[in-house]
Amino acid sequence: MPKTIAEAKVIGQKVLNSTIKMIEVYAPEIAEQAVPGQFVNVQVCRNTAPLLRRPFGVAGVNKKNGTFTMIYRIIGEGTHILADVCTGDKLSIVGPLGHGFDMEAKKPLLVGGGLGLAPLLFLAAGFGTGKTDLLMGGRSREEVFWACLYDGLCSEIFVTTDDGSEGTKGTVMALLPELLQKNGYDCVYVCGPVPMMKAVAEACLAAGVKCQVSLEKYMACGLGACLSCACGGIGRRMKVCTDGPVFWAEEVTEW
Ligand SMILES: Cc1cc2nc3c(=O)[nH]c(=O)nc-3n(C[C@H](O)[C@H](O)[C@H](O)COP(=O)(O)OP(=O)(O)OC[C@H]3O[C@@H](n4cnc5c(N)ncnc54)[C@H](O)[C@@H]3O)c2cc1C
Ligand code: FES
Repeated sequence: MPKTIAEAKVIGQKVLNSTIKMIEVYAPEIAEQAVPGQFVNVQVCRNTAPLLRRPFGVAGVNKKNGTFTMIYRIIGEGTHILADVCTGDKLSIVGPLGHGFDMEAKKPLLVGGGLGLAPLLFLAAGFGTGKTDLLMGGRSREEVFWACLYDGLCSEIFVTTDDGSEGTKGTVMALLPELLQKNGYDCVYVCGPVPMMKAVAEACLAAGVKCQVSLEKYMACGLGACLSCACGGIGRRMKVCTDGPVFWAEEVTEW
């Protein structure tokens, strides 16, 4: 899989909510090569700390302009540094890394929660306007602000919130079995918290619908060398950074 170490120029950052930002960077080689589901490893440090690069999914590319976007939650040291980066600054970025989603589906359903909705945005764009449906879940209205990013891209958007403040009350599982039964999806793509992905994978298995999951593990090298991102597969240990992050659900035995 080709990868580049880019000195990416920051085009700008946008605040999406109190803890989530979108950053656009100019890195033409990465923008050209990246496919939905892949990630990049970003050096975010002040005075050499933190040492390790931080992985983020590619949320969208603009090949014409040579740019791509990432959407991230400000959570710890690295992402606080990233949040302070300004237009014109340079970031060292390695990518694209890992394997992307299988794009063969004729009637795809995307299912996401939290920051899992970032790589699914690129997937929706990859399939093309109006070609995917989206089921998104969050704890409350504040967490499903993503609908505006997907608006016009997906054919139908179904929303669930734990507290019922937006859409259907409950988790995505409140709607998924019925959607699988009624709408004839041939593949479900899920990215979000592990309990969500497990439940979706089980429902797909029961309904006989193919399912791809995008896993997130702590990563050190991002290149297959350190084994910090191992997960269990059938008859083997798998590395999320190089064997994934996207897997067929039935391949994963330990999440
Ligand atoms: C393949 C992949 C794709 C990812 N894509 C995105 C993305 O698109 N947007 C996004 O916001 N985040 C994404 N992440 C998670 C992101 O890498 C971490 O949030 C980031 O590294 C945190 O860095 P930090 O220095 O701010 O936090 P740290 O100071 O390193 O940690 C802060 C807190 O976050 C927790 N944490 C850190 N990394 C992870 C992790 N990988 N999984 C679970 N908990 C973690 C720590 O336990 C700690 O509680 C992705 C991770 C992987 C492996
Ligand atoms: S992060 Fe080092 S092997 Fe995956």
